[in-house]
Amino acid sequence: MNDYRSVRVALLGGGTVGANVAKILLEHADELAARVGARLELTGIAVRNLSAKRPVDLPASLFTTDAHELILGADIVIEVMGGIEPAREYILEALGSGADVVTANKALLANHGPELFAAAERVGAQVYYEAAVAGAIPIIRPLRESLAGDRVERVMGIVNGTTNYILDRMDSEKDSFDSALAMATELGYAEADPTADVDAFDAAQKVAILAGLAFHTHVPLETVYREGIRGISAEVVELARYAGFVIKLLAIAERVTDATTGRESISARVYPALIPREHPLASVRKANNAVFVQSEAAGSLMFYGAGAGGPETASAIMGDVVSAARRHIMGGPGLGESQHADLPVIPINDIETSYHVVLRVADQPGVLATVASVFHEYNVSVELVEQGVFTPQTGPASKRATTTLVIGTHEARESDLAATVTALSKLPVVDSVVSVLRVEGA
Ligand code: NDP
Ligand code: HSE
Repeated sequence: MNDYRSVRVALLGGGTVGANVAKILLEHADELAARVGARLELTGIAVRNLSAKRPVDLPASLFTTDAHELILGADIVIEVMGGIEPAREYILEALGSGADVVTANKALLANHGPELFAAAERVGAQVYYEAAVAGAIPIIRPLRESLAGDRVERVMGIVNGTTNYILDRMDSEKDSFDSALAMATELGYAEADPTADVDAFDAAQKVAILAGLAFHTHVPLETVYREGIRGISAEVVELARYAGFVIKLLAIAERVTDATTGRESISARVYPALIPREHPLASVRKANNAVFVQSEAAGSLMFYGAGAGGPETASAIMGDVVSAARRHIMGGPGLGESQHADLPVIPINDIETSYHVVLRVADQPGVLATVASVFHEYNVSVELVEQGVFTPQTGPASKRATTTLVIGTHEARESDLAATVTALSKLPVVDSVVSVLRVEGA
């Protein structure tokens, strides 16, 4: 066997992802040594509870509750604990001691990225984070390196495995929201607090990271528009299916150019949207993710694969560990974060897209004209109207005969559509607004 030198690797976290990283480091030690030109020596795994059950069998001697001691002697620190503190403190400590850091922690990066990158730059260390967005799918490296010479126009995708799993089960199995969420949690896709997935905090963090990389701009998390999937009832899923759509939680980051001034800005947003059934994103099933990137020279690129799961995410972590280890033994400056463009992020009210509005209305003459006049008043152009195609099962009981109206719009400004919906909900002929969903990819 070659007499390789050692690169000391400390692992912070031994849960769904961490245990699988440890497994790869131990099981493929010889192969990794040959690839890197150094042995990746796993010096220990920091956890909270030494007696907790692990997803894979690992030597008990590796586990410790003393993260500081592990960090102190490490060349590379892998942070897969999650959360903000103490992950932030440990990463700063690792960078301060000159170690490179590999992390899957999108919450930390989206909230404290600039602080961590500045700390790394001060000492010439690197922060790698391929696993932070879309699990196993290589998307950070393509945006950071492969497309660094191109001009990205739009990034759109499904970046949360848990919500895709839930929406897919609600659509294909007619499963309830609660039972699908319980399955996603059991399978290790969901965050420790699944609110992060369901209310789209996780996807918002990921889109902030993607938008920052794509547009060379720091995108503060609070500027990302976020809407989760709690409002997507079985009825709304059925209505979408009836109309030839599927509902997906979409993350969108796009460059917006003002037609008059030519001024550029960014839109970063995440919301459940209707996608035509024949669109490639509609066939992204279970906990898979997919990201479309449109750029000026490369055209359209699609990245697809497992967006969550222990072994899958460990694969992305290991890619970063190998890069970090090679840099450790061969030297080189590594990559800095590029935020020179500094584009403003526009609010959701200023974006334009098309919508499907479903209303429960009185079934009487003149209603259609009344409803249409409201759309007209707020400058929203109607593309299609269908009446009576669907009978909502929920909502307030009505004392009069009612029917449903499905109204599809042309592209309209979000603020105009919002004003339209508010005015519609006040009309005496409207019993209820059953759903309002944006349409993407049509
Ligand atoms: P888990 O909850 O399964 O594991 C977290 C691990 O960190 C546990 O071993 C836990 O210890 C340890 N830990 C937590 N807090 C501390 C602390 N204060 N001190 C020491 N150890 C601590 O999380 P995951 O593995 O699912 O996720 C880890 C990270 O990876 C998160 O940032 C997540 O967002 C990200 N990620 C997860 C994916 C997935 O599919 N699960 C996919 C992509 C990214 P103990 O075991 O003792 O409780
Ligand atoms: N909870 C996340 C998801 C894990 O479901 O996508 C991967 O980041």
